[in-house]
Amino acid sequence: MISWLIEENSYDKDKISANGNKFLIGNGYLGIRGTLPEYEKDQFVAINLSGIYDQVGNAWREPLNAPNALFTYVEFDGQEYRLPNGEPSTNTLALDYRYGLFKSKSSFGTDKGRLSIEVERFASMVNEHCILMKYSVTSDYDGELNIYTGIDGEVWDINGPHYDEIRYSIQEDVLISNALTHENKDRVCVSEKIKYNFEAKKEKVEKDNKLVRKISIDAKKGFTYEIYKFITVYTSKDCKNPIEESVTLVRNIWDKGYFKLLEEHKREWDKIWDTSEIIIDGDDKAEEGINYSIYHLHSIAPRHSKSLSIPARGLSGQTYKGAIFWDTEMFMLDFFLNTEPDVAKTLLKYRIDTLEGAMKKASFYGYKGAFYAWESQENGYDACSDYNVTDVFTGRPMRTYFKDKQIHISSAIVYGIMKYINRTGDYDLITEGGYKVIIECANFYHNLLLTKVGSEVYELRDVIGPDEYHERVNNNAYTNRMAKFTFESALDVIKMIKENKWKPEEEYSLEELESKFEDASCKIYIPKPEDKTSIIPQFDGYESLEDIEINRLKERLLNDKEYWGGAYGIASDTKVIKQADVITMLNLFHKEYSEEVMLKNWQYYEPRTEHGSSLSACMYALVACKCGMPDRAYPFFLKSALPDILGGGKQWAGLIYIGGTHPASSGGAYMTVVEGFGGIYFEDGVVKARPCMPEGWKSLKFKVSYLNKLYQVNIENNKADIKQIQ
Ligand code: BGC
Repeated sequence: MISWLIEENSYDKDKISANGNKFLIGNGYLGIRGTLPEYEKDQFVAINLSGIYDQVGNAWREPLNAPNALFTYVEFDGQEYRLPNGEPSTNTLALDYRYGLFKSKSSFGTDKGRLSIEVERFASMVNEHCILMKYSVTSDYDGELNIYTGIDGEVWDINGPHYDEIRYSIQEDVLISNALTHENKDRVCVSEKIKYNFEAKKEKVEKDNKLVRKISIDAKKGFTYEIYKFITVYTSKDCKNPIEESVTLVRNIWDKGYFKLLEEHKREWDKIWDTSEIIIDGDDKAEEGINYSIYHLHSIAPRHSKSLSIPARGLSGQTYKGAIFWDTEMFMLDFFLNTEPDVAKTLLKYRIDTLEGAMKKASFYGYKGAFYAWESQENGYDACSDYNVTDVFTGRPMRTYFKDKQIHISSAIVYGIMKYINRTGDYDLITEGGYKVIIECANFYHNLLLTKVGSEVYELRDVIGPDEYHERVNNNAYTNRMAKFTFESALDVIKMIKENKWKPEEEYSLEELESKFEDASCKIYIPKPEDKTSIIPQFDGYESLEDIEINRLKERLLNDKEYWGGAYGIASDTKVIKQADVITMLNLFHKEYSEEVMLKNWQYYEPRTEHGSSLSACMYALVACKCGMPDRAYPFFLKSALPDILGGGKQWAGLIYIGGTHPASSGGAYMTVVEGFGGIYFEDGVVKARPCMPEGWKSLKFKVSYLNKLYQVNIENNKADIKQIQ
């Protein structure tokens, strides 16, 4: 049994940034960093909004943070009690991840006694526009208490400021901030109304860079002064009149009251957990890690939309430009397919709706077809810069080729769509544009095929595979195999069209497409295991690079934030790789390889992998399970499940801050439990399992959805009992 509570019981200023991620709450529309209400932008406060971006000048385009209407602090007998200034006598941060409830408790010893402040807040799972907070102050001596509470419009931006103006206004007792974005002149409107359980001596509103009420109280010892904050957020992308909507809604929820809203919110979470909770008997650490990972995926799932995706750092801020990477399709999608296929559809619909952006990108580089954005924002705009890393030595931007050469991104979209239809049996996604995505991605790869003089074999040259440390390589095994998969999928789609399942709008010449994709899928070069060693070369020439242990390579670092890849990176001319690459391919296409080949490659590549990306560990865990080594998989599973609890993960790429939550890693942890240890796979309309549980796991229980039916899976002694329950 787990407690569903993550706690931190000491106060450490250096952990403010990591705790912001660890204690994050959210509802898919917005994410609220786990910071205290008295914090300001220097403490990385963010109410991060999904799917709305802004660019200032030539700086990176990034998602918006809303003005912070949670802002609150106290003054007692003329003295402010406001972290990070001062030292609390006790401080607890907690996250009830069963219900997405952030809690904190700080107490301060004063000359006369003790003052304590408690906070509870949540981002409503019932209505995504609502945020609720309960703020309580108690002292054990009488005194003059002032509570300051309102809206802080000085938001934290990495590449801002994103608001050209913030207009504050008051409508009766509702505080309103109306912010105008720089690039698209979007509006972000936040309304706030409060309720409290005491008679205030005086209340007045002060306005400077913030709009704040000062509530003065003759505080009596032992009485708990409670303020309930009701907050709503709307943008002009949500509706025509975001001010009106946010004011109306804030009044409605105010009428309903905090506890009713909390109850409804909890009920919604219970429903969500009903199909997604994982129970592991015999290993509380694993059970906590996996459900905490699932919690993060739930808090950023765009349930409110029909077409939206999840950024690589979730809703934890502006890191990675709030952009969507291959992380979603390749690492998070399985979780949603198994637990909430509608969310999976929303994620893929976003890709269908951004096809135009992908076609534009391809055409920019002189190609036909669809080349999806490496870092996708609205309309498929690629936010990835040509200079994505800053050199620590010169301070100059370094040319990186992620955007132009990481062509495997298009195949991830195809992979996601095919998986969705195979798992759900819902072909609407294909007929509503998915077919075009697949055909255009295949067209894109077809453009890129090259043959050596006198050869018939197709090659893909000058690419970057998942391992970003080796740029501009030829015949990356993963990329080539995924391109082949794309051709095969396009052929499946053409067959469906021919069987008259529907009529495409485009005037495709199906015969022509069929013959070219058939030819491409047969003749594309897929690097094979070497005869003697069984090792699959990650790309042409990999075998002749310098073979050096990672620890010895690290000794060459001149700066701990130095970038390992690129033209002069310490790893670039060595066999050391950033993340699972061949192993990712083996995981996806394991049916084509013997266990021996998988094992040999695992043993070869693992010591050469830096795991510099949080996407890496789960692939090693999954392949270890496929080789019957659950205990070798286990540490990689923990590495995937725990980065946000432990506050680890890389914080810098060169001089660029990359801290935030790690949803792909959470998704990878999920895949490891269900598909690795649980050994679940789906075949011929049947849910099947080949379990491979770590030592000490007495039983593993979860539910999965397949072809519109829900199954309960119970595994004990590596035997699975799978029953349809709905
Ligand atoms: C990884 C990519 C990943 C991105 C976002 C990078 O460090 O190399 O594979 O998509 O982070 O998570």
